[in-house]
Amino acid sequence: MKNKSLVSITDYTREEHIQILNLAAEFEKHPIQKILEGTVVATLFFEPSTRTRLSFESAASRLGAKVIGFSDSASSSVQKGESLRDTIMTVSNYADIIVMRHPKEGSARFASEVAAVPVINAGDGSNQHPTQTLLDMYSIRKTQGKLDDLNIAFVGDLKYGRTVHSLVMALCNYNTTFHLVSPNDLKLPSSVKIHIKDKNLHYYQYTELVDVIPKVDVLYMTRIQKERFSDPIDYERVKNSYILKNHMLDTSKPNLKIMHPLPRVNEITIDVDKNPKAYYFEQALNGVFVRQALLASILGVK
Ligand code: CP
Repeated sequence: MKNKSLVSITDYTREEHIQILNLAAEFEKHPIQKILEGTVVATLFFEPSTRTRLSFESAASRLGAKVIGFSDSASSSVQKGESLRDTIMTVSNYADIIVMRHPKEGSARFASEVAAVPVINAGDGSNQHPTQTLLDMYSIRKTQGKLDDLNIAFVGDLKYGRTVHSLVMALCNYNTTFHLVSPNDLKLPSSVKIHIKDKNLHYYQYTELVDVIPKVDVLYMTRIQKERFSDPIDYERVKNSYILKNHMLDTSKPNLKIMHPLPRVNEITIDVDKNPKAYYFEQALNGVFVRQALLASILGVK
C-alpha cells in the first residue's frame, strides 16, 4: 500500500482491507509508536468534521508526525478564488500525505491525480468515505468475531449517505445479507446495488425499522443528510423517518450491535446509549487505530 492513494474503498483489495484491520489491532494494543517522526500530514477539510479530522490528527500525533492544514476552507486561499488543483499542488510541496474532505463527488479522485503525494479521501460529497468503512469493518469484526455470513441493516439516508455506499461495497467481499431501510425517496442508489447483484448476494428493502430489528447482527443507523437536499421541504418530510428507542431493542438478537458513523441528530434516542448493544462511541474510537494503520501503511513504515 506504500504511496497508494485511498479514494474509493474498491481501490484496495479485500486482502489489503484485512492487512489494515490487522495492523489497526496492533495499534490498539500499542497506540504510541513514534514511527512517523519527521513526516508531515496535511488535513484539508473543505466540509465540517469532528471525528474524521480529529481522529486522523490524533493518529498522526500518536505516530510522531506533524499535522498541518485547515478545518474551514474560509481560512484558506480558496476564499480568494484559488482552485482545488492549485491548492493540492501547493500542499503537495509541504506534506508527505494529504487527507482531504470536500463537498463535491469526485474531488478526491481529482486531487489524487494532481497531487505529488498520496491522497486519502475523508469524504467526497455523497459519494464515498472509505476510511470510515475500514473502521466500520474493524468494529464489526471486533464485535462479531467475523465479517462473513452476517445480516446487516442500513437505516436512514441510503441515497446520500457516503458511509453506507462505501461499506456496502466493502461488505460485498463477504457473504453479507443486506437489509436496506429507508424512505422511498432515499433508497440505496442502483450504482451501489449493482455491487451486491454482481456478487450474487441478497438485499431486502423496507420502509419500517421495526421489521428488521429481530433479524440482524448489526444495525447501522445513519443521519438524514440535510446538507445534500436541494429543497428544504423535502428534508422536512423525511427528517424524522426513523428514531431508534431503547424499548424497540427488546426483540433484537443477543449479539446485535448498533453502529452509527455519527454525528447523530435524533435518529437514536439518548436512552439507547446505556444499552450494551450500543457501539457507536467505541466505533469512533476505533477510527484512531485504523487511521494509524492507514498512515503507517501508505507512508511505508509498516
Ligand atoms: N463519521 C464522520 O465522518 O464524522 P465527522 O463528520 O464528524 O468526521
